[in-house]
Amino acid sequence: MSQYLSDHVHLGDDLTCVAILDQTLLPNEVKYLTLRTPEEMFEAIQLLRVRGAPAIGICAGYCLAALAEQRKDLDPAQFRTELHRLSQYLNSSRPTAVNLSWALNRLGARAHAMPEADPPAIAAALRHESIAIHQEDIAMCKAISEYGLTLIKEGDGVLTHCNAGPLATSQYGTALGPLLLGKERGMNFRVFADETRPLLQGARLTSYELHKAGVDVTLICDNMASMVMKNGWINACFVGCDRVAANGDAANKIGTSGVAILAKHYGIPFYVLGPTSTIDLNCPTGNDIKIELRDPEEIKSKFYAQPMAPAGVKCYNPAFDVTDHSLIAGIVTEKGICRPPYSQSLAALF
Ligand code: MRU
Repeated sequence: MSQYLSDHVHLGDDLTCVAILDQTLLPNEVKYLTLRTPEEMFEAIQLLRVRGAPAIGICAGYCLAALAEQRKDLDPAQFRTELHRLSQYLNSSRPTAVNLSWALNRLGARAHAMPEADPPAIAAALRHESIAIHQEDIAMCKAISEYGLTLIKEGDGVLTHCNAGPLATSQYGTALGPLLLGKERGMNFRVFADETRPLLQGARLTSYELHKAGVDVTLICDNMASMVMKNGWINACFVGCDRVAANGDAANKIGTSGVAILAKHYGIPFYVLGPTSTIDLNCPTGNDIKIELRDPEEIKSKFYAQPMAPAGVKCYNPAFDVTDHSLIAGIVTEKGICRPPYSQSLAALF
């Protein structure tokens, strides 16, 4: 599986830092960064050097474990206070993907369950917990890929939006998992990857991963999705998710809900694929999901040789949108495929 860059987030050899592949440089440069300070870790998540809901959770777990290791000589009370502060700081780097708080809370609970332990023992426990989160994600992606593969057949056309591949997770990915797993088994699909404005995760990352794996992938601009669906080239849409509410409303990269609306129009099943760590039963509906707003310069100038909009023009740059549960044919998790009504099928998973 090494061709899928499953090792793109890992704990440094000295246990006090985290190594990540800087995804902002792809597909032109494969460069690893070492994150040692809380500020470097925060910046890496906020600027999408590491991104994709499960990968953010895995990275945050390793970051907190590395910071704990650095501080294991503090006195016990100070150590716990620091741990709490650092966890809150990392958690504030991005608001929408629930995997971030899910992973940090999991480490927090582990520390809380060791009231008598000294800082070195807690630091070791947090390291083991963060490695477990990573290992479990590998298994979850494989299971999601298996379930997703049952939804498509040889020769199908699949449209995807953003990047929910190995770079966004651990191995295989979620939305791209069935396509990569199918390819390994000798199956062929025709994948259409939305470029995914404004940060181009589809162009830079999805087409990179699929092309590298030998999957037949065609890159399209986001506004071409209707055309390829009308042409009859799409049998299913597969997308990832950043937070799924209890009623099945699913937040994912901006533009996803438009794809779902188009799919409904053309009678194409639209599937959301994600691990149960992305399901937030504390969030009743999509209206309760906080949507990240990002720097206007990402729209106006980021990937252009010169600015493409007047300097003073107003910009609205939400990073995610919410797809209404009524548009979703199935939510594919590592525990199986949930079907409507999602308020029942999602609750039954836990
Ligand atoms: O802003 P990003 O690149 O972190 O957004 C990523 C997505 O929207 C993914 O589809 C989602 O996190 C699922 S990744 C398996």
